[in-house]
Amino acid sequence: MTERRTRPHTAERWGSKLGIILAVAGSAVGLGNFLRFPVQAAQHGGGAFMIPYLLALLLLGIPLSIIEWTIGRYGGAHGHNTAAGAFAAIWRWRGARYVGLLGVFGPWVIFLYYTYIESWTLAFSYFSLAGSYGSLTDQASMSGFLRAFQGLTPGGSVANVGSACFFFLVTLGLNLLVVAGGIRWGVELVSKVCLPLLFLFAVVLVARIFWLGAPDPARPEWSVLNGLGSLWNPDLSALRSSRVWLAATGQIFFTLSVGIGAILTYASYLNRDDDVTLSSLTAVGMNEFAEVILGGCLVIPVAFAFFGPDQMAAIAKGGAFNLGFVTMPLVLNKIPWSQCFGGIWFLLLFLAGLTSSISLAQPVIAFFRNVYGWSRAKAVLVFGLISLLLSQPAIWWLGRGAMDEMDFWGGTFCLVLFGTLEVLVFCWAFGLERGWREIHRGAELRLPRFFQFVLRYVTPAYLLFILGFWLYDNAKATISMSGVDPANRPYVLATRCMLIGLFAALALSLRMALHARRRIQELQR
Ligand code: PHE
Repeated sequence: MTERRTRPHTAERWGSKLGIILAVAGSAVGLGNFLRFPVQAAQHGGGAFMIPYLLALLLLGIPLSIIEWTIGRYGGAHGHNTAAGAFAAIWRWRGARYVGLLGVFGPWVIFLYYTYIESWTLAFSYFSLAGSYGSLTDQASMSGFLRAFQGLTPGGSVANVGSACFFFLVTLGLNLLVVAGGIRWGVELVSKVCLPLLFLFAVVLVARIFWLGAPDPARPEWSVLNGLGSLWNPDLSALRSSRVWLAATGQIFFTLSVGIGAILTYASYLNRDDDVTLSSLTAVGMNEFAEVILGGCLVIPVAFAFFGPDQMAAIAKGGAFNLGFVTMPLVLNKIPWSQCFGGIWFLLLFLAGLTSSISLAQPVIAFFRNVYGWSRAKAVLVFGLISLLLSQPAIWWLGRGAMDEMDFWGGTFCLVLFGTLEVLVFCWAFGLERGWREIHRGAELRLPRFFQFVLRYVTPAYLLFILGFWLYDNAKATISMSGVDPANRPYVLATRCMLIGLFAALALSLRMALHARRRIQELQR
């Protein structure tokens, strides 16, 4: 991939600086901000979670974000739009491009289940506006409604997922349509429209929820403000648990979309002298506002105000889907204009999901185009068909742990692994001196010098520690599936084999394409 420098599609560029900032912020602001973050915080010590969270933001999230923008722009200038190509350009080792392939594989794996969850939000927007669950008033019946939609029966087998499949097809189709429009007229345009709209929806909901005060006059202490307090009151003993630190690190990676190759691909469509420092920090700032301020003010305070502290803790333990798809609609059912506010909640999630999932699709499309020289339409079509096939386990084996398996390897492990590789390659293979100059090329903001120390030592050490800790503490149990219900193991194993097969197929196709290209060059000589 290093051989040919200019190919027509590398001419694809962002239309404006605001465009790429909104696209990257759109990638970052997603279901993770509104569903995953509040639940993680509530489950891991409330306010105390924010200490490892902020540390991870400063020492991992921000450095990685700047590095990823920089590597991406550098790769783009050399005709590469994926981590596979960019790694080959900055790291003179034959295997570099196969390591970089993780930056194509990871986003694809996340895409396979993320779009399915995204499609639930579209479905529930419709259900809410149509009043389909309007008569449900308690957790059990609302939870039954969700499970019926997901096709989950108590035994774990799948019942009727017809409508879930329909909404999934629509969601997948919409995603493909956006990426088929290209960077400027697809991704950028959609981000410019959806991101402001999503912020508007979130602000409207937060305002409405705070206006509720204490909805139950008999229990004035069950107020939204006290709910906020309960989320932020630090339980400092939580800091002694390694799980809290791991969870906070995972959340930072996931929410910022860093360490996976998505932002790297977006940045490859920058011009050589476009700023990366201020732009990347702006996108991080927008994400943190959406997550900590808006995301923190929605589901948890609401659950507290309507169900009280004890039930809220139980609900938060039930996970993000429980809060987002069961508790929130129930609560919104109780206020005037419930259908409309329910619709706003789910549309907000859908817009947040859409601007994230397109960023997961783009690295794969760019890979097909870079490696095979395919047209955009062909790349999108092939990507769509394979994704449709590979997302089936997430749909049919939802109760069997297939989605958790994909989420672990794609949405947790790959993020930290690839993030670590990125930092090491950037600081040690590319060289920090060169890297520092590259970061500041066209920069509108100079980073303080001590940041070099952070990049060279602190970030890699932090990441290696986390990886090592996982290897020591969890690797054996995860690989042997000891935590998985024995009845589900065959399904989890099949999903795992599918993921291994996907990586192998990508590596093989890259190898074959490179061979073919070399042969042509030899013949031309
Ligand atoms: N950041 C997105 C979210 O918060 C998820 C995502 C992860 C998107 C990785 C792209 C890459 O939901």
